[in-house]
Amino acid sequence: MATGKEIVVSGIRSTGFLHLGNYFGAIRNYIRMQEDYDCYFFVADWHSLTTHPDPKDLRGNVFRVLAENIASGLDPEKVALYAQSDVPEIAELYLLLNMLAYKGELEKVPTFKDKVRLQPQNVNAGLLTYPVLMSADILVHRAVKVPVGKDQEQHLEMARNFAQRFNNRYGQLFPEPVAFNFGDNLIRIPSLDGTGKMSKSENEMATLYLADTDEQIRKKIMKAKTDSGPLEPGAPMPETIANLFLLMQQVSAPAVISDFERAYQDQAIRYGDLKKQLAEDMVRFIAPIREKAQELQQDKPYLNRIMKAGAEKARASAAQTLQAARKLIGIDYY
Ligand code: TRP
Repeated sequence: MATGKEIVVSGIRSTGFLHLGNYFGAIRNYIRMQEDYDCYFFVADWHSLTTHPDPKDLRGNVFRVLAENIASGLDPEKVALYAQSDVPEIAELYLLLNMLAYKGELEKVPTFKDKVRLQPQNVNAGLLTYPVLMSADILVHRAVKVPVGKDQEQHLEMARNFAQRFNNRYGQLFPEPVAFNFGDNLIRIPSLDGTGKMSKSENEMATLYLADTDEQIRKKIMKAKTDSGPLEPGAPMPETIANLFLLMQQVSAPAVISDFERAYQDQAIRYGDLKKQLAEDMVRFIAPIREKAQELQQDKPYLNRIMKAGAEKARASAAQTLQAARKLIGIDYY
């Protein structure tokens, strides 16, 4: 698939429900990239096995995550959208890269150390080699750009190290991938209780999910923390209030936002009205995505068609890389 465009890879976790933070962080980046890059986006279902999910849940999660991404604007005609497990070449490259990955460096990875603390009863080898599998995901397409958040920077650095080690030992094959984000898309979507950012698993009442009903959206926003209002003109905005404005900036009309900003300056703001407005605008934003995602999840034949087409494209690209890798290593016999 030589389009001459730069190659982009990203993996979507298959656990948990997508929320507003995922939308304004990852998904919106994907949507912008799909126009200008040769994109490979996949559901990282193998990665999710490190925590031994229930098979019934896993299947549903994969379909839901695919549906939510498409409903948010990812176009399967423009990008290869697939399940990691449908591309066995990734597993083969993972095996090859494992020979270049050292136990010591893997044990030092902060995400691994976190898992050891969180699930001491299940410190499996898949967990230890998570960064190797992730590197295989990326290097298998010889990608140069990887749209991921800051929390993945260490994993990307490892991917660069493995690429370099392979190239030094066997000959030039892999470019060194770097993290990529459109600069203005780095907004962190704060949680509704002012304790950090929205999260897939923690604090469901403070996180707006793309699958939330209108009622849930309204309830969560109306419960968001506020205070008794600015005490003097021009008082600096407390974080909880600034967070509500930040959310408003994503979904409300500019004139509406400036009205509330002026009301705040004039100490005439009523937070109940602000939250009601935000709730309605948020409902208008999320409802079409939720409905579209539901519709897609019911259309298994369509999702299967997308996944198969995506896997086919991914396998074609991956097969070329593996063929070159085998040859360089000396395991091409025929
Ligand atoms: N580790 C990533 C995360 O937790 C998901 C992921 C798996 C990924 N493989 C990848 C991201 C390859 C980018 C490229 O979000």
